[in-house]
Amino acid sequence: MEQNSWGWSDRLSLSYGPMDETHKEFVELCAALSEDNPATFVSRLDALIAHSIEHFEQENRWMAETAFPPAGCHRQEHEAVLEVMQEVRRRVELGELDLATRLAEELPLWFEHHVDTMDNMLARFMASNPEKLMNADQAQPA
Ligand SMILES: [Fe+2]
Ligand SMILES: [Fe+2]
Repeated sequence: MEQNSWGWSDRLSLSYGPMDETHKEFVELCAALSEDNPATFVSRLDALIAHSIEHFEQENRWMAETAFPPAGCHRQEHEAVLEVMQEVRRRVELGELDLATRLAEELPLWFEHHVDTMDNMLARFMASNPEKLMNADQAQPA
């Protein structure tokens, strides 16, 4: 993948401010994985993993607060992709450097699909059930 060929665009916006802000951060850290510098790959991946843990916890919290019906399915997608990131991290450290390139290529595709489906449903569900959210700031659609 060409360096920084993928980034934030309106195509990824779900018109839900707090979620879009988190997603912009994900996109930035995810795009940084395609930088061709094996020496810093693991630290760039660590930054994405740390972000993703918070990112997914935020959405999992929103789902719990609003009793989002497909919460189990959405949480599972989060857990699965985190496991992939952690597995790639482990194997890259053992020398499987080609996995770094593959992850950098695959994650944007995963994210676009996840945004289009699970996150899109959650954003719309929160926008139509603002009274269920504990933090009133999070209840304001962008
Ligand atoms: Fe998300
Ligand atoms: Fe999500």
